[in-house]
Amino acid sequence: MNYQKVAVIGAGAMGAGIAQVMAAASKEVVLLDVAAQFVEAGMKRIEGRFASDVKKGKISPEQKGRAMGLIEPSTRHEDAASADLVIEAIIEDRKAKAEVFQKLNGLCRPETVFATNTSTLSVTDLAVLSGRRKSFVGLHFFNPVAAMKLVEVIPALDTEREIVEGAVAAMKEIKKVPVIVQDCPGFLVNRILLSYVNEALLAAEEGISPEVIDGEMRKIGFPMGPMELSDMVGWDVSLHTFPILHRAYGDRFPQPKLVQKLNDAGRLGLKSGKGIYANGQIDDEYRAMVASIGSKGSGKAFTVNRLMLKQINEAVYCLQEEVGSAEDIDKAMVLGTGFPNEAGVGGPLHWADEKGLDWVLATLEGLAETEGSRFWPHHLLRTYAVAGRLGRKAGRGFLNY
Ligand code: 3HC
Repeated sequence: MNYQKVAVIGAGAMGAGIAQVMAAASKEVVLLDVAAQFVEAGMKRIEGRFASDVKKGKISPEQKGRAMGLIEPSTRHEDAASADLVIEAIIEDRKAKAEVFQKLNGLCRPETVFATNTSTLSVTDLAVLSGRRKSFVGLHFFNPVAAMKLVEVIPALDTEREIVEGAVAAMKEIKKVPVIVQDCPGFLVNRILLSYVNEALLAAEEGISPEVIDGEMRKIGFPMGPMELSDMVGWDVSLHTFPILHRAYGDRFPQPKLVQKLNDAGRLGLKSGKGIYANGQIDDEYRAMVASIGSKGSGKAFTVNRLMLKQINEAVYCLQEEVGSAEDIDKAMVLGTGFPNEAGVGGPLHWADEKGLDWVLATLEGLAETEGSRFWPHHLLRTYAVAGRLGRKAGRGFLNY
């Protein structure tokens, strides 16, 4: 299917980013939101990104003009009626999303494909609610949309094969790298990424400085630490996603109290001016917040192993549940989050193979002793260890060498 006209519903950071990359790839776009001021803010954001691309010499002023001319701002759902593909990117609210799709189901042509940019809701559930369960797909983009190459393509239970193939082709056309993943809470990337953001928050609640946590993760090659990353994405998003992951995966995703505290204080991150950081620094309000959680502080030094091994273990769960293949898990984490990637090879499973799976197993067991059962190693690690699949040094681990 040729997706020449795309309707993007929701003009926030994600919706505007999706509209921007679509227009940059010469697609006709309708950017729709419920109120004119939201659409205007989205258009302004896109204009700013294109202006920065012109300044950097990435595009000419004419290309910018042409791309902006392809985007039609709108507050009327009727304007999405002639779209070939609808991508919903509104707030993470099941009922609100269902209402949008139901409205569009009555307006759009039968062959129009519906997609959701949800990060944690069930794609199958939304597909059923939309009334288009066979031609519905998850298209999960990453923030900032223009910069992150990855798009997770998530088929619902009844999505037809050609719809999935069409979605994959459409993502390639806009120069993204699509990876097909299973419809499970957090899909692939958020499941692994947030397991580590979660652990970083627990460390912060123990009194370890966010600056130390972020600094150490940067030192080993992450483009951003988990705290500054969450400040960018927004703590209102975390407030929504953590309970979903906790309900799905239990003790592996405890609910850090800091998330609620940050929301209560209106510290949502960059969008509200302050999050964990205020003007790039830790302030007294943050310190008081941590103190009010009642943590006595463990007095422990921070180790990157705690954050790395949390991701590795969750990646192994994803592998065993076939959320994605080993190669796709690594590719997705590199392209969706900037997971360290030296000389073209990287990602959590590769990292584990490099370290040696015997070391990974022993370190997780140690962390389970000192930090709690959320670190209990996945049984696949033991299976690999007894079979001698210890990683690169053995020629075989999660990947083959
Ligand atoms: N919007 C759009 N594009 C942006 C941007 C923004 N806010 N900020 C930066 N960019 C683009 C720049 O234009 C630049 O592109 P170019 O190299 O082609 O000119 C590129 O990103 C790199 O920008 P900079 O050189 O200015 O900055 P950095 O090198 O510091 O990179 C970063 C910025 C790309 C944001 C990098 O820090 C990074 O990869 N961080 C990790 C981001 C991440 O993990 N995202 C996933 C979040 S989770 C998520 O989105 C899921 C959701 O469901 C919650």
